Amino acid sequence: MEYIIGLDLGTSATKTVLFDRELRIVASASREYPLSQPRNGWAEQNPEDWQDAALETIREVLGRSGVSGRDVKSIGLSGQMHGLVMLDGDNQVIRPAIIWCDQRTGAECEEITRRVGAERLIEITANPALTGFTASKILWVRNHEPENYARCRRILLPKDYVRLILTGEYATEVSDASGMQLLDVPGRCWSREVLDKLDIDPALLPRVYESPEITGAVLPEVAERTGLAAGTPVVGGAGDNAAAAVGTGVVTEGRAFTTIGTSGVVYAHTARPAIDPRGRVHTFCCAVPGCWHVMGVTQGAGLSLQWFRNQFCQDYLSEAERQGTDPYALMDQDAGAVPVGSRRLIYLPYLMGERTPHLDPHCRGTFFGLSAIHTKADLIRAVMEGVSYSLADCFDILREMGIPTGDMAACGGGGTSALWRQMLADLFGCPVKTVASREGPALGAAILAGVGAGLFPSVEEACARFVRTDKLCQPDPENHRVYRNYHSLYQRLYRDLKEDYQALAQL
Ligand code: XUL
Repeated sequence: MEYIIGLDLGTSATKTVLFDRELRIVASASREYPLSQPRNGWAEQNPEDWQDAALETIREVLGRSGVSGRDVKSIGLSGQMHGLVMLDGDNQVIRPAIIWCDQRTGAECEEITRRVGAERLIEITANPALTGFTASKILWVRNHEPENYARCRRILLPKDYVRLILTGEYATEVSDASGMQLLDVPGRCWSREVLDKLDIDPALLPRVYESPEITGAVLPEVAERTGLAAGTPVVGGAGDNAAAAVGTGVVTEGRAFTTIGTSGVVYAHTARPAIDPRGRVHTFCCAVPGCWHVMGVTQGAGLSLQWFRNQFCQDYLSEAERQGTDPYALMDQDAGAVPVGSRRLIYLPYLMGERTPHLDPHCRGTFFGLSAIHTKADLIRAVMEGVSYSLADCFDILREMGIPTGDMAACGGGGTSALWRQMLADLFGCPVKTVASREGPALGAAILAGVGAGLFPSVEEACARFVRTDKLCQPDPENHRVYRNYHSLYQRLYRDLKEDYQALAQL
């Protein structure tokens, strides 16, 4: 038998899935790790935690399935985007990685815009300077920790650090590299002009591949530690959203998906690099060679519900433990009994600032309309609806740009909730489907690995063959009308609070 591995390095955990060549799951394993928030709006993780999680989960899937490492034909990596990993000349991690949702780099974004020019920056990198992206994090370290910057010899994205551990190669691929703000996105290569203007040495950066290309082979010492065979190819893989697109079959024009993971995304495939001149949504290379995608990002999607659960839902956590069930399933059940609009309660999900459409690192979460009639179930539903309003902002911009989004799938942890999917269908006013596999990014990474190893002819053909539609939610016209009224008020609330958020950040 022949097997492939897809490894997804997420924000809360790394998940590794062993598939057979028909892409049936043979074994899967995951390891969680902490997120550290040293200050309001900062977010860091330890690359060593990612390394341990990757090696342990690979060893676990092989050990549990009894599959021999020699039968694993290829490995694909997917991961949280934008994180900055800095290494010294001995490949030692210099400081904790500053990850995608960190918001400390407002001043560095201004510096980038000044150095490159606002229009030129969008022309080359397809995006305005953003606090989430890697370039501003590099400049932040240079401005605030010059001693760390001076020691830095290599810069890698999270999954590409794991690649270095597995293969010893410094490599990335176009989809994840697009989120560094150093790539010429239409040209699919590093931008000499941006690097020069930002005074960043190109030697710090890894080589860029297309997603299905082989980037290196498993090292003997890694083979010994994991049970893999030395020499097993590792393909480029993709940033988590581009990998999820492959895993949900969003690889041709007209297809789109919404994911609710820690962040939330509305993503559409495009054959050309369509750019929003106002920079409200991102345009990146996608994992299909020669194609792109446009996506809007909600910073605190699943993060909002996870935060609410951890801070206020000890009762649900205990009950779920007693019943041996998932606390989110119990929260979902109670939120489902609350009417649309959460009895006049609106939540703004800006716990970590917001990207689409505001590009505002200073805004913060808000409950609006709290009354003494409200119960915890109302608040839970309001959180889910607030995240959906933010995703509707993303959806509306893609529509405004003329990008077809009629064929919409839902994925990520939140996509498993029928209640959340119905909210999306009602708000978007279009059917929302799920695909049979829950593995999204790990499946996408495995498909890319299979294409790289020659098991499948192309990404598109593999998706057509293996990705199957499952459930379908139809929009309810009456709910659409009610939700859109709430959505208008939700949008007005940000406009009204914008300056107050700035003032709050100055206190
Ligand atoms: C995308 C983004 C997030 C991360 C974490 O631009 O920042 O979706 O990839 O999942």
